[in-house]
Amino acid sequence: MSGAGLGWGKLIVLGEHAVVYGRPALAAALARGVRATATAAERSELEVPAWNARVTASREAPETRRGALSRALDAILSTYGGARPNVRIVADVELPAGGGLGCSAALGVAIVRAIDAHLGVARSDADVAAASLAWERVFHGNPSGVDSAVAARGGVFVFRRGDPEPEIEPVTPRARMLFVIGDSAEPSATKAMVAAVARHRERVPDKVDKVLDGMAALVQNARIAVMAGDLPQLGKLMDLGQALLNTLLVSTARLEEMCAAARHAGALGAKLTGAGGGGCMIALARDPEDAERIAHAIRSLGREAFIAEAGAS
Ligand code: MEV
Repeated sequence: MSGAGLGWGKLIVLGEHAVVYGRPALAAALARGVRATATAAERSELEVPAWNARVTASREAPETRRGALSRALDAILSTYGGARPNVRIVADVELPAGGGLGCSAALGVAIVRAIDAHLGVARSDADVAAASLAWERVFHGNPSGVDSAVAARGGVFVFRRGDPEPEIEPVTPRARMLFVIGDSAEPSATKAMVAAVARHRERVPDKVDKVLDGMAALVQNARIAVMAGDLPQLGKLMDLGQALLNTLLVSTARLEEMCAAARHAGALGAKLTGAGGGGCMIALARDPEDAERIAHAIRSLGREAFIAEAGAS
């Protein structure tokens, strides 16, 4: 029997990095992600045609992206304990890798769901997210789990890291949240950026903790703005969030240029999304016409942009 699974991509609207340190983050699913299928095979392997990658499961320490895929596949299969299956997985990836849109978490969730469907295993979104963390740890070391939670649940929510379970507060948006997503084409390495923020925090702990607290306050206000459908307020909070991310040294000149162009073209707010150091930025649009204008402004800088409604489920 073959099984199919889906993992959503994500936008962190506010709170990236702070969420690693127990502060809340506001996250939303994108109507793009990863679809995977699993079928019985002689030995376990993963194929990602979009990356021209085909790997078998392995316990070797990863040195390359292929090595990480092998190791991460093995980590997922190990979560099945004595029932460890032999499966061939093919994944169709609709997100840029290393773009801050939760591609690796979406892939991990899609694989877990495909294997579960193949084996006839039923479990909750929370359990799928927890199982896929084994995959995510290979790529990101110490993930907060927000990407995996969005990939598994979809929707919009405030996420707070917790042990053993994260806290998840669903948020119902009163207005349609239309974002323009611009890709800087500079790769964003989450593990390296999270480590860079950790080093910065070791040097100036009080200063960084104040920034993280500031982000937590923005998230709480953003939650209220989203529930009230107050998009101009949400946009202002995103701009403030970008200023705080800048003080953590995770923005780049190119991301700043893209955010400035988006604001100039009428965005209500703009910021990087995900770990930064490259990857994508997001701009909040008032309506579809503004979204087109903002996307055009980003493309005029030679960068790719697409328009997406946040909160897919
Ligand atoms: C990555 O999408 C978001 C970070 O906050 C890392 C994490 O939450 O694990 C930078």
